Amino acid sequence: MITIHELRSKYIEFFKSKDHVEISGKSLIPENDPSVLFTTAGMHPLVPYLLGEPHPAGKRLTDYQKCIRTGDIEEVGDEAHLTFFEMLGNWSLGDYFKKESIAFSWEFLTSPRWLALDPRMISVTVFAGDENAPRDETSAEAWKALGVPADRVAYLPAGDNWWAAGPVGPCGPDTEIFYWTGEGLPPAGSNKGSDPKRWMEIWNNVFMEFNRVDERTLVRLPAQNVDTGMGLERTVAMLQGKKSVYETEAFTPIFEALESLSGKKYGAPGNDAELDRSFRIVADHVRTATFILGDPKAVLPSNVGAGYVLRRIIRRAVRHGRKLGIEGAFLSAPAERVVENYAAPYPELVENRARIVEELRREEEKFLETLVKGEHEFAKILPNLLKNPMKVMSGRMAFKLYDTYGFPIELTEELATENGLKVDRAEFDEAYKKHQELSRAGSEQTFKGGLADHSEISTKYHSVTHLLHKALKIVLGDHVAQKGSNINAERVRFDFSHPAPMTKEEIAKVEAIVNEQIARDLPVSMEMMSLDEAKAAGAIALFGEKYESVVKVYTMGDFSKEVCGGPHVARTGLIGSFHIQKEQSSSAGVRRIYGVIA
Ligand code: ALA
Repeated sequence: MITIHELRSKYIEFFKSKDHVEISGKSLIPENDPSVLFTTAGMHPLVPYLLGEPHPAGKRLTDYQKCIRTGDIEEVGDEAHLTFFEMLGNWSLGDYFKKESIAFSWEFLTSPRWLALDPRMISVTVFAGDENAPRDETSAEAWKALGVPADRVAYLPAGDNWWAAGPVGPCGPDTEIFYWTGEGLPPAGSNKGSDPKRWMEIWNNVFMEFNRVDERTLVRLPAQNVDTGMGLERTVAMLQGKKSVYETEAFTPIFEALESLSGKKYGAPGNDAELDRSFRIVADHVRTATFILGDPKAVLPSNVGAGYVLRRIIRRAVRHGRKLGIEGAFLSAPAERVVENYAAPYPELVENRARIVEELRREEEKFLETLVKGEHEFAKILPNLLKNPMKVMSGRMAFKLYDTYGFPIELTEELATENGLKVDRAEFDEAYKKHQELSRAGSEQTFKGGLADHSEISTKYHSVTHLLHKALKIVLGDHVAQKGSNINAERVRFDFSHPAPMTKEEIAKVEAIVNEQIARDLPVSMEMMSLDEAKAAGAIALFGEKYESVVKVYTMGDFSKEVCGGPHVARTGLIGSFHIQKEQSSSAGVRRIYGVIA
């Protein structure tokens, strides 16, 4: 039975035997791409090369890449969804195309020398064609030539067989490979089109020959590229005939740790479905948190951006740990098992073991304190609540516990139920939604979205940041360099090098310049070029960032030119008015500005 570690190695070995160069997977935290919080696919770090930049390692590449995809985190816990997964990939950058890519996949899957899968268990889909690209007969013919029966090839529309990482960027039709998960052999004529539930995707070969520039514009890329991705955990679960990824060795060591902590057993015959769900949630989240904290570019738990995602993941794991009956901080034991399990493919986990354990413990303790405080407050208001003839706790009250003490609604509900009360959840949800819209829109949006899912307000803040940066250079001098920035739906925080506090006059001047540029309603445009070209064109490049070789340069009229991943408003007039709320010290030689737009 093939394990995750074996499949990972075999995949790489196979593509190396086909003249691919193994490149190392990249950080989970994307470089210079503020449009996403985490790396979401193997191709993500390769975008510049798919757009045409030559890759130093050549035209045939292969790797395994850590990925995080978080749709709605509250939904993780079923048997199929993972917040962290590994993607195996191989690329042709203008080298081979459809026919060869399909032949490689077929050989790897079915050859006795490699995975030796029964060809009868495999079906495929190809692109049915639309106004963007024709029906993909080339791929269909390539499959048939390898022996795949015509009725195992389904032609499906763009919703199934067109792949893009986000609303803009490289994209194209794909051919997807499915494995039969029903009983016995698949019936004659069965394919993904006729029986979508029992055919599970194992591999996606994307033929990236297009670049989506904006909603209306699709242009051809300089080369015909191939980008393939195989979800490691899911594929192994299928090959092992397992019901879910949680039954593979990616998770068994974690469950063992949780079982000895809780005295309960995952998947035991008498288990309540909710108990097993909590097991899965803790296991998934602790694995994800371990990889985030073990990353060379780790973020720490915080209230914004990727740090906020990490915080939610850890806190949700703690809550579900309590449902397993585990008290106190416990995540370091299962985290250690993750480190051991993945030490060979991901040595960074071993290097950063101390940070992983320490940060988990710190965050858990902080959260446990919150829980104790919340429980205390709940006990204080309980006598009054019990006087309510309807035995209902108002949503406003539940929201107050959340807002003031960070006490999660699920726990308020639990305590309420234990005391024969119900929480007015609709009222809570309303208050909560309002609060979310106001305070978290920025990070929530990026959290939910794939590449480039931006709320309007964050986009405006993003654009005003460029104006602010330039205005500071004008007023304080050219030594001003951005040291960091952070945007949420309420404000921008901007750190920059400057040796002294700003005077009132300087602040007023900077504000006036920014507002003047907004009033001029400058057009904002974007061009892609090499970093050298960008520098030659006078573009500001950011604080010690490591850039890919092709960068985006955003120009705002004659005022600002900056290397940046975007997105930005179309015209500066859309920003609104800008106000500096606070100017303070950040660290030695670095000042910090909080700015708001209205
Ligand atoms: N980039 C493709 C995917 O993520 C292969 O499915």
